[in-house]
This record gives sequence, structure tokens and C-alpha cells, in this order.
Amino acid sequence: MTDVLQVDPTAPDPELIARAAECLRAGGLVAFPTETVYGLGAHALDRRAVQRVFAAKERPATDPLIVHVAAVDDIASLVAEVPRAARDLAARFWPGPLTMVLRRSELVPDEVTAGLDTVAIRVPSHPIAQALLQSARLPIAAPSANRFSKPSPTRAAHVLADLRGRIDLIVDGGPTSVGLESTVLDLAHQPPTVLRPGAIDAATLRSILPDVRLRSSPAERGTTGMPAPGMLPKHYAPATPLTLFEGDRASAIAEIVESARRHRERGQSVAILAFGEDLEQLRALRAQLVDLGSEGDPPAVASRLYAALREGDELGVDVLLVRNITTDHPLSMAIQDRLRRAASPVPLPPSP
Ligand code: TXA
Ligand code: MG
Repeated sequence: MTDVLQVDPTAPDPELIARAAECLRAGGLVAFPTETVYGLGAHALDRRAVQRVFAAKERPATDPLIVHVAAVDDIASLVAEVPRAARDLAARFWPGPLTMVLRRSELVPDEVTAGLDTVAIRVPSHPIAQALLQSARLPIAAPSANRFSKPSPTRAAHVLADLRGRIDLIVDGGPTSVGLESTVLDLAHQPPTVLRPGAIDAATLRSILPDVRLRSSPAERGTTGMPAPGMLPKHYAPATPLTLFEGDRASAIAEIVESARRHRERGQSVAILAFGEDLEQLRALRAQLVDLGSEGDPPAVASRLYAALREGDELGVDVLLVRNITTDHPLSMAIQDRLRRAASPVPLPPSP
């Protein structure tokens, strides 16, 4: 049985939070909102609890988890050392959507780190996540609360759809605000490298740490030499094949129109994940449309993206079509990255 607790995100009820914290202390699995996506939390120092996370998600044991703590002062026992750069970044970006990969201490179980000599750590800012961490007084290991290979959950309903009956509790605090997972920055190796783009972009990180570099996206790099399977290109895919069209707005729309026509000639049903600006033009296509929000408002697109991918999947069509965001914005790279990972490598059907 999975219980659902409705908790007001602006003023989390201490009694409900205490119940969730008690469940975590006892080795239970609790899904809770963070500012990025819902996490599936477990006592990070309890090997059995962590093993249950992998089982519930059907996640390969080779994919390490992020450990969440209430404040930067709580990381000392989890890491071998706190480098100066980590302190500076924490002062500026914690609590918030930044995960730092640091050298681990002996305390952190191998189950959490997948046997690596590093551990990923984050201080979330969501009031429910904060209240839970403070009440439980534990480091909480929490991957996104989705089944492995499904889009990350940005609402409690997504968690229920994927994990009902597999976890003990869901703290429902409404939709998450950022909508994409945290920026993952590796500080354990030189130079410091962004392993996963997120809401805090590289340019912003460089204002604190000038030598931060970007790792080329796995979707562009092929499948070799990845340090963590969580970075696999297929990680966020909907079940329905999704074709992504890149390039400038006009040519990407033209390609979508052409692709929809070809699929329909083959008797295949089509849905388009469309930016608000494109809806008018695409309505003529007789394809189902899922609104991604305005391309001019990347934060709105980010917060809707995973829900839109799930909605697209639920339409039961043969193919989904989408174009990439072209807006110049700190969030655009993270949105482009998630769309590339969600897209199938399947090429367009050839002209008949
Ligand atoms: O926003 C987020 O980060 C959310 C919320 C719940 O905090 N969590 C999340 O966790 O997205 P997950 O497990 O879905 O993604 C964690 C990512 C994976 O890509 C994993 O490979 C990487 O972090 N990671 C974890 N530990 C690592 C390590 N020691 N070295 C390199 N990458 C690591
Ligand atoms: Mg995940």
C-alpha cells in the first residue's frame, strides 16, 4: 500500500512531515517534492532502504543516487573533504537545484554511490523537502521518483502512476516549480565539469568558478565513456517514439508538417508537442496537439515538459513530433538536453 499525504507546500504541517520522517527513519520509501522534480527518498546510510529504492524504480544498481541534506554543514561526514570551490558554490546556490559530486567518505554505502569513490550531494530549497530533512535528521538518498526510463515526475500523480504499491508514502505538495532535474557538477575531478545541465547554467556557475566546463551531451557523443548510466541518452524517453526536429523555427515547423503528412500517409496517428507560438499554424494538420507552453517563456516550458511528455504518451498515438527550443535563455540548454534524450534515434520514414 502507498499512502498519499496532502501537504501545503507554503506551510508544511509538522505532524504530517513527522510521519514521513518517521517512515524514512524506519527504512521506508517516501516520495516528496523538491523544487526540481519529485524524489524517491530513503535513509542514505541504510543499505537495505537504498536497495529498496533501486528495486522500486527498477533502476540498475550501477546508477548512483544523489544524497540530500538540509544544509551545507551536514555534508562534512559524507565527504573526504569539502573543497574551497564547493564552499563557494554552496554559499551562492544552496539551497537550490545544484548537485555537487565530491570525494566520498567511508560512511556512504556503496549502494548509494554504485561503488564510485565520489558522492553526489544536494541541498534542496523546496519547503517540504527542507522540512522533511530537518525533521528526519538524516541524509536522504533520492533519485527522481519515476520508474527507470520514464520521464521524471513533476506531480504526485506521476509518482503514483509509476510507483503505486511499490513505495510506502507520497507527500503530495502539488506541482514542482523548476520541472527539470538539478545541474550536476563534478568537483572531484579537474576541471570541474557539468555532467547534467539544469536550471543553474554553466555561465552562472562560472561567475563563482571560472574554469567550469561542459561535458558534451551524451545524445551527441554516442554511448562510450559515460561515467554514469544515469547519463544514458534514453533516460527520459516516453514509450511512444518521439522525433525531435532541430534548427531554426521556420524550417523545424516545415519538417514537422512534412513528417506528420508522411506518417499519416502510412496510416499512422500523430501527436505534436507544440510551443504556444506554433499552435495556430499546426492546427490545420489534423494531428493531436499537446501544448508545451510559450517558447518565449523557457521556465514555463521546463516546468511543463515532463507532464507534456507523459500526456503525449497517454494519447496512444503511433508517433510524437516535437521541435527544439531556440530561445536564448539559461534554461534552454537543459530543455534541449532533455528533449534530445527523450527523442528516439529512429530516423524519419523515407518519402514514398
Ligand atoms: O533534481 C534532482 O537532482 C532530483 C531531485 C529528486 O533531487 N534527483 C535526481 O536524481 O534527478 P536521479 O537519480 O534521477 O539523477 C541523479 C544523477 C544521475 O544522472 C546519476 O548518474 C548522477 O546524478 N550521479 C549520482 N551520483 C554520482 C556520482 N558519484 N558521480 C557522477 N554522477 C553521479
Ligand atoms: Mg532520474
